[in-house]
Amino acid sequence: MTDTAPVLQVQDLTVSYGDAMPVKGISFSVRPGERIGLVGESGSGKSLTALSIMRLNDGATLGGSIRLRDRELLTLSTREMTKVRGGEIAMVYQDPMSSLNPVRTIGHQLVEAIRLHDRVSKAAARTRAVELLTEVGVPLPEERLAQYPHEFSGGMRQRVMIAMAMSSRPAVLIADEPTTALDVTTQSRIIDLLDRLADEHGTAVVLITHDLGVAAGFCERIHVMRHGAIIEEQPVDALYSSRNTRTRRRCSEPWSTSRSTCISRSAPPPKCSNAGPSRSSRPAPSARSTAPGNRATCWSTCRACRRCSRSAPDDG
Ligand SMILES: Nc1ncnc2c1ncn2[C@@H]1O[C@H](COP(=O)(O)OP(=O)(O)OP(=O)(O)O)[C@@H](O)[C@H]1O
Ligand SMILES: [Mg+2]
Repeated sequence: MTDTAPVLQVQDLTVSYGDAMPVKGISFSVRPGERIGLVGESGSGKSLTALSIMRLNDGATLGGSIRLRDRELLTLSTREMTKVRGGEIAMVYQDPMSSLNPVRTIGHQLVEAIRLHDRVSKAAARTRAVELLTEVGVPLPEERLAQYPHEFSGGMRQRVMIAMAMSSRPAVLIADEPTTALDVTTQSRIIDLLDRLADEHGTAVVLITHDLGVAAGFCERIHVMRHGAIIEEQPVDALYSSRNTRTRRRCSEPWSTSRSTCISRSAPPPKCSNAGPSRSSRPAPSARSTAPGNRATCWSTCRACRRCSRSAPDDG
C-alpha cells in the first residue's frame, strides 16, 4: 500500500429504494495501485455499492459522499458522470454475457469502447484493441476481434471485459465477481491479470467477491459486508494470522471473520433476534475501532453479539 491520498473515497454511502435501505452508510477508500476487497454473503449490498459509485442504479436515492480525487460524484451532472464512467472509473460487471452485445463482434465493441474516450481513428483503435487483448492474455488477438461473445469461453469473456474496462486507463477499476463462474485455474489467471494491471498502471482495484479465499490472495485490505453495512475491515495479513484456529479454518467461507468472532457455534444466525424483516429499515450500528487498522460492527441486540467483546452499544 502506498502513502498517497485516496483516489476514491466513499463516506457514509446509503442506497434507498422507498422505505428499504439495502446499503446503510458504508465508508471505505482506495489509493492508487491499492487492491481492496468487498466481500460478503449474497444480498449484502456489494453490487449496489459498486453500481452507486458508477451512479447506475436508477430509481435509488443515494446519500453520503463518493469522492473521486477532489470531485464529488453524487452531485455531478449526468453528462459529467458519463465521462467519469468508463473513463476514470471502469467496472467489470457481475455477468459478462449480459454486458457484452451478443450481435456485435468483440472487435466492434472494443473499438467502440476505445473511441468513446480516445479521439483516434478506427484503425488506431483497432491496433489498440489488439494490444489490449494481448495484454489480458487472449491468444490470436487479430482473429479473436472478428468473433462474437458466444464464441469465447467464460474466462475469455472476462478477459475481454477487463480489456474493455482498461481501455480508458482508469484510475479505479471495480471488478464485481470477476471469477465467480470460473474454474480455479482460470480464476487464478484473472486475479493475476488484475494484479499486473494494478502494478503496471497504478490502477486502484476494488474486488467484489463472495469468496474470501480469492480476496485474500489479491487484496491488501478486506471489507466484510453484511445486511448493507461493512461489519469488519481488516488488513489481509491480520485476517489470516490473527485470532484463533477457528477463524483461520473459516477463512475459506464468505464473511468468515465476522462470523467466527461474533457468532458462536451455539447461536446459529437463523435464530438471531435481529433476523426479522424490520432490519432492512433500521440503520446499521456504527463501526468502532477494535485494534489498530481494524474496524468492526455488531448488531447489539443480536444474542450472539452479547457474548462478543466487540458488540456496539445498544442502538435501539
Ligand atoms: N433495484 C432494486 N430495488 C430494490 N432492492 C434492490 C434493488 N437492487 C438490489 N436490491 C436489494 O439490495 C440488496 C443488495 O443487493 P446486491 O445486488 O447489492 O447484493 P450482492 O451483495 O451484490 O449479492 P450477490 O453476491 O448475490 O451478487 C438485496 O437485498 C437486493 O434485493
Ligand atoms: Mg452482486
